[in-house]
Amino acid sequence: CGIIGYVGAEPAQPRLVAGLQKLEYRGYDSAGVALVDDALSVTKQVGLVADLDLPEDALQTCGIGHTRWSTHGKPTDANAHPHTDCSGRVAVVHNGIVGNYDDLRAELPEHTFRSETDTEVVAHLVEDELERTPDLREAVAAVVDRIEGSYALGVVAAGYDGIVAARRNSPLVVGHGADGNFIASDVTPLLEHTREVSYLEDGDVAHLTRDGISVWHDGTPVDRAVHTIQWDAEAAEKGGYEHYMLKEIHEQPQALRQAVAGRIDPIEERVDLDLSLSRSFLDDLDEIQLVACGTSYHACLYGKQLLETLADVRATVEYASEYTVGSGRDPSRTLVVGVSQSGETADTLRALRMAKRTGIRTLGVTNTVGSTVARECDDALYIQAGPEIGVAATKTFASQVVSLAMFAIDVADVRGDLDPVAGRELLSNLQDLPGAVQQALDRDEEVREVAEAYAGGEAFFFIGRRFANPVALEGALKLKEISYDHAEGFPAGELKHGPLALVTEATPVLAVLTDGARPEETRNNVKEVQSRGAPVIAIASESGHEGDYEVGFGVPDLGLLEPLAANVYLQLFAYYVADSKARPIDRPRNLAKSVTVE
Ligand code: G6P
Repeated sequence: CGIIGYVGAEPAQPRLVAGLQKLEYRGYDSAGVALVDDALSVTKQVGLVADLDLPEDALQTCGIGHTRWSTHGKPTDANAHPHTDCSGRVAVVHNGIVGNYDDLRAELPEHTFRSETDTEVVAHLVEDELERTPDLREAVAAVVDRIEGSYALGVVAAGYDGIVAARRNSPLVVGHGADGNFIASDVTPLLEHTREVSYLEDGDVAHLTRDGISVWHDGTPVDRAVHTIQWDAEAAEKGGYEHYMLKEIHEQPQALRQAVAGRIDPIEERVDLDLSLSRSFLDDLDEIQLVACGTSYHACLYGKQLLETLADVRATVEYASEYTVGSGRDPSRTLVVGVSQSGETADTLRALRMAKRTGIRTLGVTNTVGSTVARECDDALYIQAGPEIGVAATKTFASQVVSLAMFAIDVADVRGDLDPVAGRELLSNLQDLPGAVQQALDRDEEVREVAEAYAGGEAFFFIGRRFANPVALEGALKLKEISYDHAEGFPAGELKHGPLALVTEATPVLAVLTDGARPEETRNNVKEVQSRGAPVIAIASESGHEGDYEVGFGVPDLGLLEPLAANVYLQLFAYYVADSKARPIDRPRNLAKSVTVE
């Protein structure tokens, strides 16, 4: 989602609208604006910013705006931001997830809610706080203390001066302008007004007025450095990255935090995915069939292993375009899980519809609220990765696997199969994953050098066992999609049964040797290719990467999720090989982000 806010000497509305249009790449299913002086005026609706039915000649000089990518509640007018309280005095825009919104809502029995969003609860809580304090900043500070999850917030209230902003684990910058001050999700909309910005830190609460910006942390005033932005406007739309793909690779820690926000209870050691599939149905399941295409298919290969490792249930994976129900299945004890980032892939929809016709229940795992997959399936699990614009899927792969991991824990828990130690370890790995991914991202520059050194390879092979196998397949897919090089992924053990004939000193081999993926055996396969002269780029568990490889990268101990951290190196490798060949990375030839034909 995209957030903007302005308070200053000039009318706010044109600034908010122009800003929202620049932020539309962050989400575009609905939009809205709130203007405030002694009264509050809100306009919001489904559709693009340009379609907003705004009042003409609005002269208010303070307001907030939002462009939405639905994560909680369908794209409807009521669910569009800004959200307001009962009195119609408070308006809130939010990016992130209020994980404990159910609990908070239950504490507000007197309030009437008008949307299905997690955000609306914030407006009602601020309304209550304003009964206790006349200071909007204090009210917002008290409310954010009660929020579990992630948020970037902009809040205004009728009769209160300025905007109050707050952030935790969601991006928010403040801009210091000549004729007023701004908040925004990123610097893109600010550049036409100012290049002077400050980045809020987690836990900060800021108060912006026409004359200045003050920031508090834990109730104490703090200074946040003012930075001068050097980017040109085009670079800024990609957050300073040359391509959306690189930006999205770097967004993974944030996406992964969003995927689990509010869904993991570390005390009870459980997950709550808010699914309507009944417990007794999950308990009685005989088989889970995962169907998908492309990158989502690789996420399913990973998900199958998680399901079978944690829960005592058979799981199968099939290309959606090849799916048949299969003989001997009991439809009432089968679940088909369709995994689709876009939620619109025709092959996946065909498979889901075929299952439905046979009387099989369906679950859609998707990034797109309101998509056809989400609407047609009996239930939907949203991966909450935020919009992905680069055609080659990156952050959504990781978020899909993490969502399937939580689903596996849930299924195992319901069926009484969950080994407490394994469950606890996976829950803690899920929480550590964003940090481990960040460690890999911090080595971006080293990966670039490696990629440039090996970009001339005649072909590239990717190998890994068990949980590392889907990541090897995904690494090869990424490279071929964007660099147009010949790249293949194999289960490491299969290499010697045929593909080894292709290995020469001109074919770099990328080997994923993470723990839990039988790295000792993969090490033997590495020796096989090295003895044919192939250079090996190894991505291994922290302790094991300093072997006899041409290049080695380590990933920290993350149990079954280690390959997801390793995958970041493969994504960066693919990106920089393609970049060194000046390929059109965000729009590779012949490929589309969402393929709506069979
Ligand atoms: C297209 C894209 C792939 C994607 C696949 C499945 O082929 O080019 O990157 O993985 O569709 O997309 P979905 O939206 O169903 O995950």
